[in-house]
Amino acid sequence: MPLAIIAHGGAWDIPGELHAEHLDSCRAAAAAGWNLLTRGETALDAVEAAVRIMEDHGVFDAGRGSHLNADGVVELDAGIMDGATLQAGAVASVKRVANPITLARRVLHESPHVFLVGEGAERFAQEAGLPLCEPEELVVPRERELWERKRRETQAAPPDALFRASDTVGAIALDGEGNLAVANSTGGTFFKHPGRVGDTPIIGCGLYADNTLGAAACTGWGEQIMKTVLARTTVDQIALLGNPMSAANVAIAYFKHRVGGLGGLICMSPRGEVGFAHSTPYLAHAYMIEGMSEIATGMKA
Ligand code: GLY
Repeated sequence: MPLAIIAHGGAWDIPGELHAEHLDSCRAAAAAGWNLLTRGETALDAVEAAVRIMEDHGVFDAGRGSHLNADGVVELDAGIMDGATLQAGAVASVKRVANPITLARRVLHESPHVFLVGEGAERFAQEAGLPLCEPEELVVPRERELWERKRRETQAAPPDALFRASDTVGAIALDGEGNLAVANSTGGTFFKHPGRVGDTPIIGCGLYADNTLGAAACTGWGEQIMKTVLARTTVDQIALLGNPMSAANVAIAYFKHRVGGLGGLICMSPRGEVGFAHSTPYLAHAYMIEGMSEIATGMKA
């Protein structure tokens, strides 16, 4: 089985001046995961490392740099799944964890539960020895300005708010043991109601991995992704069609047709073939499969 990794930095109407930064960050994320895979580390290690790079970067709606909620606070969601065992870990609405993907992974390994939220998730972080940060450390000036502007408005959210809502990040990897893993992280939608959770940490909706079927990670408008159980829908299509690119296209066509879905996804077969598709203008992504001479990047499928 070839080693393989694919990472994405969100599906939305990414402005031209941000393309290079998105592609560079996706490439760096894929490279970090790839380095681990080539050293014999696991797919779980690779996807966690890839997502951490994007959580730390500041350009994405994940980790530092995420959108603020209606209270002006960053609230983060993340999930991770092991395709070998179907073990999963997820956290939501955490405000004091800079790398929620690492907290999700600790839930996967160290908790009898799958999903922890809010204060309970932060308490688990402390119990697991992970550092907590100040909520303000997660806020960048760009997002504070957007939030101030929105707060001054008297009308409902402008339509482009939805397009800006889709900068979630994710990664899928296949390691030398033939194990798949998937990881996702987001700050959720701009100006969301406090406590709102989207698809990103929800197993089957934002992410899914099963060594016997394939893996998928979704990005976009979470409410629509949840209603269509998009990650598991995509994985079922991989199993049915045997080709992840066709599976990605079928899943996005269904998403668009059934709920007018705005978003995108990446996926991988148990043999390390990749697929990606989107209904938005762009999906920033990067991938590397054993045998390729360098990491491939792109903004469109
Ligand atoms: N897809 C990210 C969210 O809706 O929260």
